[in-house]
Amino acid sequence: MTKVFITGGAGYIGSHTILDLLESNHAVVVLDNLSNSSIESLTRVEKLTGKSVTFYEGDIRDRSALQKIFKEQPDIEAVIHFAALKAVGESNEIPLAYYQNNVAGTVTLLEELATANIKKFVFSSSATVYGDPASVPITESFPTSATNPYGQTKLMVEHILTDLVASDPEWSVSILRYFNPVGAHESGLIGEDPNGIPNNLMPFIQQVAIGKRDQLSVFGNDYDTHDGTGIRDYIHVVDLANGHLKALNKIMTNKGLHIHNLGTGQGYSVLEMVTAFEKVTGKSIPYQVVARRQGDIAECWAQTNKSEKELGWKANLGLTDMVESAWNWQENNPNGLKSNIGVNLACK
Ligand code: NAD
Ligand code: WQD
Repeated sequence: MTKVFITGGAGYIGSHTILDLLESNHAVVVLDNLSNSSIESLTRVEKLTGKSVTFYEGDIRDRSALQKIFKEQPDIEAVIHFAALKAVGESNEIPLAYYQNNVAGTVTLLEELATANIKKFVFSSSATVYGDPASVPITESFPTSATNPYGQTKLMVEHILTDLVASDPEWSVSILRYFNPVGAHESGLIGEDPNGIPNNLMPFIQQVAIGKRDQLSVFGNDYDTHDGTGIRDYIHVVDLANGHLKALNKIMTNKGLHIHNLGTGQGYSVLEMVTAFEKVTGKSIPYQVVARRQGDIAECWAQTNKSEKELGWKANLGLTDMVESAWNWQENNPNGLKSNIGVNLACK
């Protein structure tokens, strides 16, 4: 059993990871400012697992909050750092908020962790750090670059972590580069809960299927792909969550810096996603082809050999599982979770 400190744990990927950690008999302490989530997700995780979550409402940039947590929870051994702002378009409009939250916030967190002598750290990075890759599949040794402020924040934190490990061999750091997380837990109780108009493909398709949006805009059908639409490596969030447990195992026994892709190694086009969704749900997804979205790339999928070999992790769930679980979540929670108020979870 390891006691793990989870930042951003009330969010989409964090809540699924906490579920897996609790089911594997680990203990969790969560810090989340609820800027993009509801405490209801953790209340539901508690119900599903029959185990409790220690929750602190607060911000990773708040030193005194971090110091209080590390004083009250002296047996924390490792950290999984999910907390970040994540909307690419918004990051172009308010870049300073992204650098402040994602970069400055992570530096504050790392400083306080160093002081508390907690030096095992898993970081949520993104395939966005590969920029526009020269070829696919993408290995971890591909060159990195960023095309927007959000991507810059992920790349900057990767560089900070690299320098930190080089400066102090006591750190064990895992950088996980997620491809495109989709789907939800099979219970339909936790899932992705976007604000307003979804930026990402799957949540948008889900909202068309449930009648909240009239049609999908397909961003370009003139890419150099088999049907002209963009190809991505969609990964089930339950598989992704499990990758964090494997990364935790790795850093508990191996110091230094470890970088791994979390993807399936399989790409699907936008039109293939639409067809899969129609087939699984029986709903028609009307769409219209519009211009390319600025900053989009033609194709992106992972080479997964390194994660398989070094973490002993591989994605098990396929496209049907992704679509079925996403739809189950959407139908059960047409308005998401943010309107719910958690009443059971004790908040520190
Ligand atoms: P999410 O928004 O659902 O979860 C992030 C959580 O962090 C939210 O609960 C939010 O309230 C919290 N948070 C944000 N800033 C905070 C702060 N300063 N202090 C405390 N809490 C804060 O997002 P997610 O999809 O679960 O993403 C988790 C992580 O994975 C992020 O770092 C994101 O950049 C990264 N990531 C996500 C995707 C994706 O497509 N979902 C892909 C690649 C990487
Ligand atoms: C997938 C495909 C679109 C919406 C983004 C971030 C990345 C990471 C994951 C956090 C593309 C097409 C989309 C729509 C469409 N996030 N599309 N109509 O762009 O691969 O990655 O989320 O780290 O950093 O950039 O994901 O789901 O937005 O798009 O045609 O309404 O669907 O053009 O080909 P993307 P996405």
